[in-house]
Amino acid sequence: MQEQIDQYTTEIEAFSPANADELEAFRIKYLGTKGLIKDLFEQFKSTTPEEKRTLGKVLNQFKQLAEGKYQLLKEHFDSQVTKATSQQDLTLPGEGFAVGSRHPLSLVRNEIIDIFKRLGFVVAEGPEIEDDWHNFSALNFPEEHPARDMQDTFFITKPDDNTNPLPPGEGRGGAYALRTHTSSVQVRMMESGKPPFRAIMPGRVYRNEAISARAHCFFHQVEGLYVDENVSFADLKQTLYHFVQELYGEGTKVRFRPSYFPFTEPSAEMDISCTICKGAGCNMCKYSGYVEILGCGMVDPNVLENCGIDSKKYTGFAFGMGIERITNLKYVIRDLRLFSENDVRFLKQFKSDIV
Ligand code: DAH
Repeated sequence: MQEQIDQYTTEIEAFSPANADELEAFRIKYLGTKGLIKDLFEQFKSTTPEEKRTLGKVLNQFKQLAEGKYQLLKEHFDSQVTKATSQQDLTLPGEGFAVGSRHPLSLVRNEIIDIFKRLGFVVAEGPEIEDDWHNFSALNFPEEHPARDMQDTFFITKPDDNTNPLPPGEGRGGAYALRTHTSSVQVRMMESGKPPFRAIMPGRVYRNEAISARAHCFFHQVEGLYVDENVSFADLKQTLYHFVQELYGEGTKVRFRPSYFPFTEPSAEMDISCTICKGAGCNMCKYSGYVEILGCGMVDPNVLENCGIDSKKYTGFAFGMGIERITNLKYVIRDLRLFSENDVRFLKQFKSDIV
């Protein structure tokens, strides 16, 4: 065994690898799990106690020699690699990486926000988990009222459950549910401030709907509210007319149809001339030349009073639109599910100036 060790020692001392591969072969040969050193230690086990006394020390020194040599050479080759990379030609073109693009719904939401900001509207937000009061009762949907049926959603607690999933002070008890519309933010805004209010409120909303090309269990809305003294239906019409001209281009026609919402009186639905066929008639507008884009109306005095606002002194208008719908009319997206499937082939078709 001593002879073997001597022979290996000479070999190791003379070893001078040309590259990192040769060094790796060295490591495997001597230090590997099936290497020579392991072998020597195996042999050592079956030597006599006297032999052990002398050989033990020799063997350990030999092991240190092999390990030391390997470490030294490894550092040498590693530093060469770092040098090579730091000496790269910096004039070479860089490696490109893919920059994502904004989601089409974000693009359109930002565009809507920009238009209203120019008219002096501020942006407000509210919680997606909402209590019965803010989502329904304050908005003039009494309990058991059939208007609630159109907005079935996902309930988080039962009416008699005492848990409040909202931050302290924000929940008013009763049943908590995922909000069905952003109109709840109107209530929060009016409750916590003093008129005048001029705000738009973008956000995600939920409905208990079967998912299909035309409906989803979540979607996005932008709510608008303007409350002040002497706000009239003429203000509502002019504001929304201006919005449509900005978003879809000059010459887009608007038309208002009477409608019903519990929280506005009178209420209307606003249509615009079809953005696809320009009113000539096509699939999108079902050959009527017009498409519906939002609901609106004068804020019901009951809603103002529910929020502590004097309805004799103040009036206001409100409107609410689905961002998916507005986006469809801009980009003709036939299947609503595409918005949430995260398919990059769909998403990368929408480019924005802001990356
Ligand atoms: N909240 C209504 C919905 O989700 C949309 C709406 C209609 C909002 C009329 C309004 C409004 O503010 O005035 O169907």
